[in-house]
Amino acid sequence: MSSLDQPLSAALNARQALLSELHQQQTDCYRLFHGSQEGAPGLTADRYGPQLMVQSFHQPLEREALLALHAQINEHLGLDLQLVYNDRSGGNSRIDRRDEAYQPTPEALADRVGREWGLNYRVRGRHPGQDPLLFLDLRNARGWIKANSAGKRVLNLFAYTCGVGLCAAAGGAREVLNLDFAEGNLAVGRENLALNPGLTMDFVQSDYFPAIRQLAGLPITTRRGHKLPGYPRLEQRQFDLVLLDPPAWAKSAFGTVDLLRDYQSLLKPAILATADNGTLVCCNNLAKVALDDWRAQVLRCAEKLGRPVRDCEQILPAADFPSRDGQPPLKTLILRF
Ligand SMILES: C[S@@+](CC[C@H](N)C(=O)[O-])C[C@H]1O[C@@H](n2cnc3c(N)ncnc32)[C@H](O)[C@@H]1O
Repeated sequence: MSSLDQPLSAALNARQALLSELHQQQTDCYRLFHGSQEGAPGLTADRYGPQLMVQSFHQPLEREALLALHAQINEHLGLDLQLVYNDRSGGNSRIDRRDEAYQPTPEALADRVGREWGLNYRVRGRHPGQDPLLFLDLRNARGWIKANSAGKRVLNLFAYTCGVGLCAAAGGAREVLNLDFAEGNLAVGRENLALNPGLTMDFVQSDYFPAIRQLAGLPITTRRGHKLPGYPRLEQRQFDLVLLDPPAWAKSAFGTVDLLRDYQSLLKPAILATADNGTLVCCNNLAKVALDDWRAQVLRCAEKLGRPVRDCEQILPAADFPSRDGQPPLKTLILRF
């Protein structure tokens, strides 16, 4: 018996009620084992439709333990999920593609479709990036967007594979604009759109800083002596619903995304691009940032801009992302102006 057997059993049993709820909502993408909180730090097991995605972040998982985990999950769910194992414990968190013993079958690596909130998403076990194509802890936020987009002009910032945009479109948004600087991620967003006939949304490939500053009517700043790369021109305008979900840290020629030291430079133009009476949903996925501190910072920033928040509400990740201390790394706030 593997040492994972007991914690995995407990995790699967704890999810009984949630899984039947999710299946009823036409969702088959969810976390089955959240190791940091469930007895095996640095190990996760996620279902993406017909695929089981296992990831290790601290050290590789022994082959026998991996196969036992796969068998235990299949038996529990009564399914034959195709296993993809991505070891990300090596240098720089890249996926280790060398070890033959762990190679998924061609069938497991084929393009698949997963469902969430009744929508179809591209599932691909290996692709040029390191993260799966859909971040599962944001599911409740996507559900909220779907339920609150009717008739709205929606801006999805740091759109990645455009899951939030897709939910807005499905929720009856008047217009959806997805913005990201990575063409590969937007290309998956286009695939996701094609997997859901009848929906429409737009895409802008641009660095965040020049794009949001143009939308907000702010000047684009240059560092002395540095020539800026080109960027698409956008008209100043506002949106009824804006989603701001940046990565923890990223540097580009235009600026640095740094959720620990400088959330304000992301937030300020996003607030200005949100209409009066509009709503901004903002996220911070950095575990070491405490919710209370971050919320105070966000509210202060809005106040200083002369756009005080009328109402602030939190969206928590669902129970497949348990957190023993009630402080999940992903913090999401709905700000109504
Ligand atoms: C954490 S993901 C965002 C998750 C996404 N909101 C979702 O719903 O799944 C980070 C995304 O930010 C993009 N990104 C990082 N730095 C950027 C920048 N300076 N400008 C535009 N996009 C950026 C990356 O290409 C990536 O798609």
